[in-house]
Amino acid sequence: MKRPFIASISGKGGSGKTTFTALLLKTLLEANYGDKTLVVDADPATNLPEALGLTLYRTIGDIVEEFRRRVDDPRVAVGYRKDVYLEGLVYEAIVETEDYDFIAMGRGEGEGCYCYVNAVLTRVLSMLHKNYDVILMDMEAGLEHISRRTDRHVNTMIVVVDPSMMGLKTAERIKEVVREVKIEVEEIYVVGNRYPKSVEEKLFNWARSVGYEVAGFIPEDPLIQEYSVLGKPLTQMPSDSTAFKAVKAIARKIKLID
Ligand SMILES: Nc1ncnc2c1ncn2[C@@H]1O[C@H](COP(=O)(O)OP(=O)(O)OP(=O)(O)O)[C@@H](O)[C@H]1O
Ligand SMILES: [Mg+2]
Repeated sequence: MKRPFIASISGKGGSGKTTFTALLLKTLLEANYGDKTLVVDADPATNLPEALGLTLYRTIGDIVEEFRRRVDDPRVAVGYRKDVYLEGLVYEAIVETEDYDFIAMGRGEGEGCYCYVNAVLTRVLSMLHKNYDVILMDMEAGLEHISRRTDRHVNTMIVVVDPSMMGLKTAERIKEVVREVKIEVEEIYVVGNRYPKSVEEKLFNWARSVGYEVAGFIPEDPLIQEYSVLGKPLTQMPSDSTAFKAVKAIARKIKLID
């Protein structure tokens, strides 16, 4: 296993990023290494708490909003630097469970807020990343997050692709942007989600041609949808389910677990 393990999970919209992040966390919880783990929902849509069965009170976006109201209020004197004050507040967004910590980016209101929230998240991660052995980040769809450098501290990038040309194109663009902005990732993998066995070979060929390593495949598993529809946490999926067994093999391959 590799520590610190700081991973971003990206890919096109709907490719399975959130599902994979939740199941990856489950592999850690089962392995029970006693690692300090932080799970980050870096997608403003904030779907991950539901997939993990967590109650979230505040996102970084909410806190940024609150902060703006407070500093704009002349009755509230802010006696020290605003960014230091804000960073202090952001710690309040961390949800602590028995097994891991969780933080969600959410979104700010109004123009320009999104970038600001992103900048705050990136700064907060710079401070937090030293406190954890493992950080798993469920990214927003697409590749904007890379140019915003939210992935700055990541040493393992995992791009989830579904069996579509769009999925592969997004993965190719992600790789290009990583090169352009000179993010120093140690390892960059693709995971094929919902690939029928008959086209797995195609993914291997494509990966070879564009310089990705294939970390593995997650099969279509009706249990995932069942859990999703019923709002049951994916971390409670049975350990012998086909999807979870596949994610466990991937977790070994990427050296998250032994
Ligand atoms: N292997 C699978 N088997 C069955 N259903 C799956 C599988 N992977 C994902 N799904 C379903 O596909 C949908 C999209 O998955 P998910 O939310 O994980 O994608 P995402 O990439 O996080 O999407 P978004 O870009 O909206 O954040 C969900 O309804 C999920 O339950
Ligand atoms: Mg998602």
